[in-house]
Amino acid sequence: MRLPMSKPSRAPQADARALGSPSSEPVHAGPPGLGRRERPRRIIAVGGGKGGIGKSMVSANLGVALAQSGLNVLLVDADLGGANLHTCLGVGQPEATLSDFLRRNKARLEDVIVPTGVPRLSLIAGAQDALDAANLKYAQKQKLLKTLLGAQADYLILDLGAGTSFNTIDFFIMADHGLLVVLPEPTSVENAYRFAKAAFFRRLQQMEAQYGIQDLVDSALTTREGSLRTLHDVLEQVRRKDPVGAERLERELAAFRIRLVVNQARTDADLNVGTAVASAWKKFFGIDMDDLGAIRYDDEAWRAVRKRRPVLIERPDSPAALAIQRIASRLLAIDGTPIPATP
Ligand SMILES: Nc1ncnc2c1ncn2[C@@H]1O[C@H](COP(=O)(O)OP(=O)(O)OP(=O)(O)O)[C@@H](O)[C@H]1O
Ligand SMILES: [Mg+2]
Repeated sequence: MRLPMSKPSRAPQADARALGSPSSEPVHAGPPGLGRRERPRRIIAVGGGKGGIGKSMVSANLGVALAQSGLNVLLVDADLGGANLHTCLGVGQPEATLSDFLRRNKARLEDVIVPTGVPRLSLIAGAQDALDAANLKYAQKQKLLKTLLGAQADYLILDLGAGTSFNTIDFFIMADHGLLVVLPEPTSVENAYRFAKAAFFRRLQQMEAQYGIQDLVDSALTTREGSLRTLHDVLEQVRRKDPVGAERLERELAAFRIRLVVNQARTDADLNVGTAVASAWKKFFGIDMDDLGAIRYDDEAWRAVRKRRPVLIERPDSPAALAIQRIASRLLAIDGTPIPATP
């Protein structure tokens, strides 16, 4: 299939400020400073530029796969506008949700965690009132991000809403693994690039604030033609003025790697879309993207959603379930996470 490869026409800084949220929203200086020990071992955020592409299906089943490997997993429905992860797991209307934590009805995150019926897999159901999302203030978001970083679990999985608002992107970029779900069709691929770009520039802004190199990056990003430069060009510009800052920036950006999951693949060619997207991204931005693998379109996947059951439990031998298990294994291999002997 043909991928949208046209170069972005606007200056990147303008892109970063036009992501759908108030442009005045401050950028926090990196994840809140909690010690590594206090953090969940790994955070996985599942995002995508579009609605209805399987983000919740992937989140729920990845949670099941990791829990079945013997790890403690906490799933968080961070789709602030349309929470429904509990339904994918067959959990009825939860008594406590993220709303209670945000509204301070429940002071501690632990008070809004509910069991899922799957051993070692628990859930924080999403805010039921969409108004909560619209009203999520910067300070509330920071509190939530910070609290999530301190949650006790081997893996924390954040199911994000569609789109590129700061409320979504800030959860995505705090993760160790930013999983970008994409369908093998041009509209979805286009949205995936938009999402990746939004995440990349938000991360860059965050680093500017963190390292006090704001003006350098700003000027390096804005070319005379107003078109986008590759990461290599940006670093070259920064290096001329601040070699130490450029080195730090390079290290951090190398660690910021988006991981693609192609969902609903129908043909063999669809299975290669992840590789094509990753190489186009590398060509234009000079940044690596991982292709974690593809999940076939599978009738068992939607049947399971209708039954409100994870396909991994309902039909563990189905192509979709097996593909999600492979993706979970890849993530565990990347992390070097030892799997407990007796799950
Ligand atoms: N691999 C697949 N094969 C067949 N159907 C699938 C597959 N993945 C997802 N679906 C179907 O797509 C629907 C949408 O999936 P899901 O709710 O996970 O999307 P989403 O991206 O979370 O949507 P939203 O943006 O609304 O939160 C599911 O109800 C399911 O029926
Ligand atoms: Mg969803």
